[in-house]
Amino acid sequence: MFSQLAALAALAGFVAAQQVGKKTTETHPKMTWQKCTAGGSCSNVNGEFIIGANWRWVHDKNGYTNCYNGNTWNTTICKDGKSCASNCAVDGASYASTYGATTSGNALRLKFVQKGDYSTNIGSRLYMMNGASKYQMYTLLGNEFTFDVDVSKLGCGLNGALYSVSMDEDGGLSKYSGNKAGAKYGTGCCDAQCPRDLKFINGEATVGDWKESTNDPNAGVGKYGSFCTEMDIWYPGEANSISTAFTPHPCTTTGQHRCEGDGCGGTYSDDRYSGTCDPDGCDFNSYRQGVRDVYGPGMTVDTTKKFTVVTKFLKGSSGQLSEIKRFYVQNGKVISNFESTIDGNPGNSLSPEFCEKQKVAFNDADIFANKGGLWDDHYANMLWLDSTFPVDADPQAPGKGRGSCETSSGVPVEIESAQANNQVVYSNFKFGPIGSTFKQP
Ligand SMILES: *[C@@H]1O[C@H](CO)[C@@H](O)[C@H](O)[C@H]1NC(C)=O
Repeated sequence: MFSQLAALAALAGFVAAQQVGKKTTETHPKMTWQKCTAGGSCSNVNGEFIIGANWRWVHDKNGYTNCYNGNTWNTTICKDGKSCASNCAVDGASYASTYGATTSGNALRLKFVQKGDYSTNIGSRLYMMNGASKYQMYTLLGNEFTFDVDVSKLGCGLNGALYSVSMDEDGGLSKYSGNKAGAKYGTGCCDAQCPRDLKFINGEATVGDWKESTNDPNAGVGKYGSFCTEMDIWYPGEANSISTAFTPHPCTTTGQHRCEGDGCGGTYSDDRYSGTCDPDGCDFNSYRQGVRDVYGPGMTVDTTKKFTVVTKFLKGSSGQLSEIKRFYVQNGKVISNFESTIDGNPGNSLSPEFCEKQKVAFNDADIFANKGGLWDDHYANMLWLDSTFPVDADPQAPGKGRGSCETSSGVPVEIESAQANNQVVYSNFKFGPIGSTFKQP
């Protein structure tokens, strides 16, 4: 009975709340990853994943009534943000059956469309955990991060991405008294676009001034958003198997904080750049940098087969992040990132100089430098892995030539049936000091 309700409710909308619900027992999918040392030896770490609070069933903490259903709040239980947070509970998740997220050994598989017994779920957002109730934090500066990815079963219009963001390690549990759930239930989401579709921010529901989406029955936009610095380590341009980008998004503030209305910037504000973070970032997307025959099916990095992605966060003499370098490894062959062919914007890595020249070459506003450029990464970041439809994709993002998918691709309803078996598999995660996770030739 309750699993039926839970499934229905979870699928009826991306829901979240801040008390702890006990209707569904939660078992995190476990995955090993490797921590490497400067000498190059790596040892296994037992990690686990958790699904973000916005994906979960939220209900009256004393019963089964949904606090949020489809894209509307129940305003009887949720009169305002504070009372809603104290009346509603976020519940446990069934990872395989509801969300299509499974692990095996050192691999994580995310399916896009999961047909449960009672309804269908689309997409998920998983966070890497350190134990059951803390996010796994990584200090990127001076370190490198390596993983294998298989995007061969991932087509146009789907987003299989890997990010790091400076969320609170405990999901905001200790900072916000209204948040009783914490990282154990996937709370505390934030990024540089300051997402405004979150149901709970800073331990309060976003019920006041909630605007239901006119074209997405499961989404809405609230008055508040949740900011923090973001590093997109693995982000598909317009298609996972056609183009890919890595992109730092700096902020003028450190850590998670709440923004309000037009102060959030981004898609839903009059001024896209009014927030404290850079919504565009400085991206390296080979396709956009003019190299269009290197990453894709049958190309130098052949996306019909598994490959390794290496990202290095180099520390400059000033002690700050000076450069972000990318390598690929496939069939035992190390492939350096591709040289940009854009006039006046050479290079194959991100550095302050590259970013400055890119903004000029593409005639983009240089918000990146204004918000701090390659930021001083003195705080830790945690990772999340996405499998979503980019229904919330920013229509204003400079989209010129980021990938070769038809612009009409990515219509959710079409994908749901035509690409129901699409999936992304991440495996063999390694993290450690520069030079420790793979052999550079
Ligand atoms: C809203 O919550 C109230 C109080 O729990 C409940 O009686 C009512 O049925 C709910 N409405 C909907 C549409 O679920």
